[in-house]
Amino acid sequence: KSLRIFAPATVANLSCGFDVLGCCLDTVGDEMVVSLTPDPEVTITKIEGANLPLESHKNVAGVATKALLKKYNKEVGVNIEIYKNIKAGSGIGSSAASSAGAVWAVNRLLNSPFTNHELISFAMEGEKLASGNAHADNVAPALLGGFTLVRSYEPLDVIKLHTPEDLMVTVIHPQIEVKTSDSRSVIKHRVSLKKAIQQWGNVGGFIAGLYTNNYQLIGRSLEDVIIEPLRSILIPEFDAVKETALSKGALGCGISGSGPSIFALSKGEKTANLVAEAIRDVYSKTGLEFDIHVSKIN
Ligand code: HSE
Repeated sequence: KSLRIFAPATVANLSCGFDVLGCCLDTVGDEMVVSLTPDPEVTITKIEGANLPLESHKNVAGVATKALLKKYNKEVGVNIEIYKNIKAGSGIGSSAASSAGAVWAVNRLLNSPFTNHELISFAMEGEKLASGNAHADNVAPALLGGFTLVRSYEPLDVIKLHTPEDLMVTVIHPQIEVKTSDSRSVIKHRVSLKKAIQQWGNVGGFIAGLYTNNYQLIGRSLEDVIIEPLRSILIPEFDAVKETALSKGALGCGISGSGPSIFALSKGEKTANLVAEAIRDVYSKTGLEFDIHVSKIN
């Protein structure tokens, strides 16, 4: 029994929602082939497009699969092949795609003993291996689709949110690697009450905007007064890209996950493409290599 799947890229944080908000991209992602095997082992026999470990205990897909099988508690073997399009350290959920993709496929092959919500905690084990922290803001949207909110980590409580139909995301991925663990180390662990108030006001506003299809409210809630000022210095031309995206009509713009990718949300495909072209111009001048994607959220 074997399954070939698309493992989607995701944008985490969405500015105001550090470690709690994320969304799933429709067109950007990896492919994986996952098979049940007679030997009760987890093996990874092929990885194309990235230099990642084949040893299953060192690979996020392997670790997430093992977490699932431990809970399943029956002797099952799994083989995984990974065809990466999402680069490691890109900020669009590369490790989450592999972790979430693996557990989703294994669950299907076993006739779905777990719900997609239950799969999140297994996939989080992959995130823990990748970044030292078991955050769920990439694996949750990869598994549930659309926008998700991690309402609580202990106990884990993840909510799938409403997606306004015309919302589009533009992502620019400069081809430099920013490790999530490094980009987490620049964050301060103390936050002033003033900034906390601004941030949770924005999270509430963002979610209210999603549910009322209020694009302007979504836009003005896409503000991060806590993390972005510290992390944006790691990203070449961040301020210029943000200013350009907003000037072309993007609702909001910020760091995708832990960077270096930058995302912008727009209403409608036309604006999302305009934003893509404008930020392409900004980045072309840097001499850096980059990719740009325009995607629906699904
Ligand atoms: N919430 C995580 C972070 C996402 O920003 O560190 C990593 O992709």
